[in-house]
Amino acid sequence: MARVRTAVLISGRGSNLGSLIEAAHAPDYPAEIVLVISNKPDAGGLAIAARAEIPTKVIPHRQFASREDFDAAIDAALREADVSLVCEAGFMRIHSEWFVKRWEGRVLNIHPSLLPAFPGIHVHEQALAAGVKVSGCTVHFLTAELDSGPIVAQACVPVLPGDTTETLGARVLELEHKVYPEALGLVANGKVELQNARAVFK
Ligand code: GAR
Repeated sequence: MARVRTAVLISGRGSNLGSLIEAAHAPDYPAEIVLVISNKPDAGGLAIAARAEIPTKVIPHRQFASREDFDAAIDAALREADVSLVCEAGFMRIHSEWFVKRWEGRVLNIHPSLLPAFPGIHVHEQALAAGVKVSGCTVHFLTAELDSGPIVAQACVPVLPGDTTETLGARVLELEHKVYPEALGLVANGKVELQNARAVFK
């Protein structure tokens, strides 16, 4: 079985990257992580990739005059590595419309809320302030708008009395580590694809 060559884009800790790498160790997993790109040279996830002997590339966004130039460098790295799918895992940059169009249907993102609720940053603060009784995580196809796009997978956890951003965040993160590998598996297997701006399940 040919496994789908997949890159992971990160900006930080890389715990979701770790869960994708671990899932991809299973011989029957349909995707293979072949490249990790970080826009931050000190991202913790780079060490996780290196330990797994996955090639890494640091592309610091500050070195580019525009969003398009930065995205062109990412695009070139993805093409050079012959990548077919991209997973954004805590990658904290917004892409240009050019990049989104070029990679349409081939980029997934994970977000620690039940989108469309609470996009952006300070997600668990937003959830606690709103008083929701469940929260969770969402894996979706990338669109030009931040943390929005056709949903591939979602799962929820309870918000418990006395929860802090840390306790809720930890509960959601544990779930993220299960949901992202499942979602990537579905897309890599061709069981879900983007058609006319919708996630179509086969
Ligand atoms: C994760 O919680 C992910 O959902 C979130 O950043 C964290 C990265 O953690 N992403 C977003 O908020 C995207 N808008 P990690 O580096 O340990 O995977």
